[in-house]
Amino acid sequence: MIGRLNHVAIAVPDLDAAAAIYRGILGAKVSTPVLMPEQGVTIVFVELPNAKIELVHPLGEDSPVAGFLARNPAGGIHHLCFEVDDILAARERLRAAKARIVGSGEPTIGAHGKPVLFLHPKDFAGTLIEIEQA
Ligand code: CO
Repeated sequence: MIGRLNHVAIAVPDLDAAAAIYRGILGAKVSTPVLMPEQGVTIVFVELPNAKIELVHPLGEDSPVAGFLARNPAGGIHHLCFEVDDILAARERLRAAKARIVGSGEPTIGAHGKPVLFLHPKDFAGTLIEIEQA
């Protein structure tokens, strides 16, 4: 069902410092910060040949990464995102497998303007999973 790894999201307490690590030490192509009020995050996109890394920092009161950073003040891997061809077909398969979907179960529009769902880490080896209709 899942296809390409689209991105790895890393929650960071200091976006500029994290961007400097990827740009300076690792020599990656790094975007300027992109504010995404709808998603409650500011993201710096790191472009790799085969996937993206997203450096994610909370934006606004109800940010989905604020709690994560409260528990992990130094930051860390927040989620993995895999591409799927058909998000509703994927949801049916997940429901049949009794895998928990975070939130209402209705796809929302993610950071790339495409429909996404988040899957509960307790059902996925301890890792929050995002699936995106590519
Ligand atoms: Co993501």
